[in-house]
Amino acid sequence: MILAPMQGLTEVLFRRTYEECFPGAISLAVAPFISLTHNMQYARGASLAEQMKDVLPEANAGSIPVIPQILGKEPEEFIALGNRLYDMGYNELNWNIGCTMRAITGKHRGCGILPYPDEVRAVLDATLPKLKPRLSVKMRTGLKDKGEIFNMVPVLNDYPLASVTIHPRLGRQQYTGVPDTETFGQILPLLRHPVIYNGDICTPADEARIRTRFPQVADTMVGRGILYRPTLPLEVAGQPMDNEKRLLLTRQFVRNLMEAVRDHYVKEESALHKTKEYWCLLWKSLDISELEARKVLREKEFTIVDNLIWDLTQ
Ligand SMILES: Cc1cc2nc3c(=O)[nH]c(=O)nc-3n(C[C@H](O)[C@H](O)[C@H](O)COP(=O)(O)O)c2cc1C
Repeated sequence: MILAPMQGLTEVLFRRTYEECFPGAISLAVAPFISLTHNMQYARGASLAEQMKDVLPEANAGSIPVIPQILGKEPEEFIALGNRLYDMGYNELNWNIGCTMRAITGKHRGCGILPYPDEVRAVLDATLPKLKPRLSVKMRTGLKDKGEIFNMVPVLNDYPLASVTIHPRLGRQQYTGVPDTETFGQILPLLRHPVIYNGDICTPADEARIRTRFPQVADTMVGRGILYRPTLPLEVAGQPMDNEKRLLLTRQFVRNLMEAVRDHYVKEESALHKTKEYWCLLWKSLDISELEARKVLREKEFTIVDNLIWDLTQ
């Protein structure tokens, strides 16, 4: 299984902790996106430096092998950043054409580019001949209409992409409804690239269903599901897991992650915010009530929150 990029959640702190707890369970991670700006701002200021921290090789040593991801469509910046990442040791780069944030899609970035196959072609034409790393893409089925992915297939097939990851929802759906596996199944034989399935894999049975229905998929990618059930990749890999073992491993992982957050953030306020961000999703993987989980979220002091989580994961 591949770990999905999730801004604010699957940065290197998470990836490292995960690998320490469950070595090898996740084969590869796509890092949350690094944004290109159309006016080369990133080359000047701290914002790119901040974003790059997540993929610095020294920070990722001993962690899950990672593929950096780029969001944007400006060829010059695309090539400059892609080649810089290559020089840092990354031989694959992922292009995000699936992000649904409105500020992004309005500028034909992320999944905002999906209705415009000619724009995708123009970006690939301008970047690929000069890009040192291989390129893979991560996309949705469209911004507003699933017809968009069908129009995109011939474009993508014209280029030597490393893989295409598809989260079969439309951008306008955000995360509502269910993944459109029917469209996914129709697209799968049309693409000549390895295809990775992503979307709503939360249990081993979900993953098995995808593998059985679409044996041609090259791999599956897990996002939110890893927080709802941290042991999921181990179970998918075939490790025997009864409820008792699952809880034991999950408690240990949650504690280690919280410890990593505590150690990483200098400001208590930031540690508190990050802890709660994880807790919102992670508590469901433990055998605790919603009432107990909410008590943690109501607290305003980091030490209290930290202690409460410690008690709940004993
Ligand atoms: C909080 C959050 C942040 C995300 N950030 C990114 C991102 O940086 N790049 C990207 O390609 N997708 C991003 N996604 C989308 C996920 O990678 C994934 O495609 C989506 O969550 C569906 O998979 P899932 O059902 O397994 O979670 C994000 C999703 C969430 C919930």
